[in-house]
Amino acid sequence: MAEAMKGLKRTHRCGELSAVNAGETVTVMGWVQKQRNKGGIIFVDLRDRSGLLQIIYEESDCGTENFAKAEKMRSEFVVAVVGTVEKRAGAVNENLATGEIEIRAKETRILSEAETPPFPIEAQSKTKEELRLKYRYLDLRRPDLQRNLMLRSAVTANIRKFLTQEGFLEIETPILGKSTPEGARDYLVPSRVHPGTFYGLPQSPQLFKQLLMCSGYDRYFQIAKCFRDEDLRADRQPEFTQVDLELSFVDVEDVIDVNERLLQFVCREAIGLDITLPLPRIKWIDAMNRYGSDKPDTRFGMELTDVSETVKECGFSVFTTALENGGSVRGINAKGQGNMPRKKIDALVDMAKGYGAKGLAYLCIGEDGSYKSSFAKFMTEEKLKALTEAMNGENGDLLLFAADKNSIVWSVLGALRLEMGRQMGLIDEDQFHFLWVTEFPLLEWSEEENRFVAVHHPFTMPMDEDLQYLDSDPGRVRAKAYDIVLNGVELGGGSVRIFQNDIQEKMFEVLGFEKEDAYNRFGFLLNAFKYGVPPHAGLAYGLDRLVMLLVHAESIRDVMAFPKMKDASCLLTNAPDVVDETQLTELGIALADSVENMEKDLDEGAGAESKN
Ligand code: AMO
Ligand code: AMP
Repeated sequence: MAEAMKGLKRTHRCGELSAVNAGETVTVMGWVQKQRNKGGIIFVDLRDRSGLLQIIYEESDCGTENFAKAEKMRSEFVVAVVGTVEKRAGAVNENLATGEIEIRAKETRILSEAETPPFPIEAQSKTKEELRLKYRYLDLRRPDLQRNLMLRSAVTANIRKFLTQEGFLEIETPILGKSTPEGARDYLVPSRVHPGTFYGLPQSPQLFKQLLMCSGYDRYFQIAKCFRDEDLRADRQPEFTQVDLELSFVDVEDVIDVNERLLQFVCREAIGLDITLPLPRIKWIDAMNRYGSDKPDTRFGMELTDVSETVKECGFSVFTTALENGGSVRGINAKGQGNMPRKKIDALVDMAKGYGAKGLAYLCIGEDGSYKSSFAKFMTEEKLKALTEAMNGENGDLLLFAADKNSIVWSVLGALRLEMGRQMGLIDEDQFHFLWVTEFPLLEWSEEENRFVAVHHPFTMPMDEDLQYLDSDPGRVRAKAYDIVLNGVELGGGSVRIFQNDIQEKMFEVLGFEKEDAYNRFGFLLNAFKYGVPPHAGLAYGLDRLVMLLVHAESIRDVMAFPKMKDASCLLTNAPDVVDETQLTELGIALADSVENMEKDLDEGAGAESKN
């Protein structure tokens, strides 16, 4: 290949040229997007990551050898072209940044040929994602993915720039760590040297960054790979990147301040978006009451209304029973949707059930003020009127109610609100609504585990005024924890940490850890705290999510170079895959019979493909 580049030096990227360069001799290199042979004249669209550029070969002036090379070109050939920049003789292409110019080719080198790709390299691809992920290296040539990854690079560069300016040190922490499952499942790596033992891949650098605070690195950050073996969704990957930071000698306000300025800087530099500071804040309880979500999308209203008082003695047993059991009745008003067909309402009811509701009560108010409702018959005219008024219901509105314990009512109506917001086109995709959610509960009761679990993580500091309830009424304790939310997505989260061993031990106790178990798992942190620990706090962003939102991508996969599928497999490399028997033996690992059989089934089935 040394020969291929001999005497050639790229002078510009394709998209960097414009009418300003007219008359210059340039050398461009890239992939052939398209070759159009018009007989005696050939146009070639050349593509690199900066954009497209038209090359023109005229048989009469470009030389026979040169012209022959152009004739041979097919899509995705990699070529180098030396030529002069000219203003287009033909029509200007308004759709192209370089649409005013073309390069008159003087010399051409075909650097490599290409087979016909399995799908066209184009923006807004209609090709199925499975095929694109299998040929991800081709998919990544598409301009929209290239734009996403370039923006991602700009975002990380600006994060580094800002944090470095603010006195943060970038420090790496290990990937091979200790398994301390909390929240998600850990990915495990078997040790060869210590058979029967395993490293855990980090779910976040949480414990290490706290140790770094103990060691005096008072402002730390890291762009850190994290691993969580959990069910995947559009905004979740098993392997993802956090912008992780931690500060010493600070409280909530300091963390929020530096992070707001970080977000402002990054948004301005990366996408030219000006965000006004301070960002709005909402307490967790208010977020739940108003939006039914701890990550509210505040780009539209349709807030929840608590109608518990109004329906207290309404006669409809679904409502009254929920109240008697300590729950609530709340509703949303989908303005102007009162004529929604029954089928669509049924779909909403099914959706509500998917979120744990036993049902969904609806009241359609006709344009003439008449009612169509699943429960109106159980109520007096007067009660119904009071309910409608409480909901600010007018003719033509659709009122949806959920009655249950608060957690279910919130999640059902929170989801319905988003669904109706989408259906009604209330969400302005061009808006960026950042929001801090503060004063999260410290703990929540887990029915499954029959114990309290940490809402954030076990190292989160209770709010000073609630510390007194840690023993007597743990569910009531609020945390010095905060999430940053953007357009209804949890972008990041963090907290002030417990730095006193007595509070930390109490916390473990409330979480149901035996002291010995807590020391087994986290002893290194508790020990470190014995030797002089500064008060500290921090936060981590999901970098993938931030970029996803900034570029309006639908999925986190669109901002990662090599993402995994929903089942955590990589279609390109076919990971995870079986390994040699010898590798397993070396690790002292034997597969259970059940696993051997599963593998056999896979081999006999559609092979590797079926696993994906
Ligand atoms: P948390 O668990 O909230 O906090 O994670 C921080 C942020 O990481 C992103 N994130 C993910 N992104 C993609 N795929 C995933 N599977 C995934 N899981 C999480 C989210 C989330 O807000 N150590 C604490 C932070 C701290 O307290 O400083 C932590 O990890 O955007
Ligand atoms: P039922 O009397 O159970 O047939 O319920 C009457 C109406 O109330 C139906 O439209 C149900 O979907 C609705 N419903 C039932 N349970 C609930 C609930 N927990 N919250 C809101 N509506 C409900």
